[in-house]
Amino acid sequence: MRKLAKLTSILFVFVFLGMQFVPTATTPKTSATAGARMAEVINPQVGAILDRSCQDCHSSRTAWPWYSRVAPVSWIVSKHVSEGREMLDFSEWANQPHSTDERMLICDAVSDGRMPLPEYTVMHRNAKLSKRDVELICGWAAAPISGTR
Ligand code: HEC
Repeated sequence: MRKLAKLTSILFVFVFLGMQFVPTATTPKTSATAGARMAEVINPQVGAILDRSCQDCHSSRTAWPWYSRVAPVSWIVSKHVSEGREMLDFSEWANQPHSTDERMLICDAVSDGRMPLPEYTVMHRNAKLSKRDVELICGWAAAPISGTR
């Protein structure tokens, strides 16, 4: 029985090590300092909330903590970031105007608690949105667009 336990753990170690070689090349690994902060691009108060709670998945400004580089977590994180950026990429906002529809989509997603993803806020407690944060985001979303702000 002890021998079996030992063999099993050795097998796990090898599988775990093997997993580290599976590539997750779907995402360009840009870092947290790539591009403009939302606080500089839109209303600074709302921008700061989006920078804090959304930029890891919805912009090029992604911070990659050590565990995000370890499989199988890296597979999940990489998928979230690729899909997140595809849906909504704040890094594009600095160069081209965004629509009222996009703002309303953001308000919807934060109002019903879909965003930020719950898997994310487990590890990033400060990304959780307060009621006040949601009110600020939705107030901004409903206001008429002036320029790109
Ligand atoms: C951990 C990564 C992650 C974080 C953090 C995150 N998102 Fe997302 N977001 C995704 C992914 C993945 C999708 C696409 C799949 C889906 O809709 O669940 C998405 C989709 C969206 C969509 C479009 C589709 C929908 O569900 O309405 C909006 C809008 C959105 N996110 C807004 C936000 C906002 C605003 C924040 C910050 C308050 C945020 N997200 C934080 C990963 C993330």
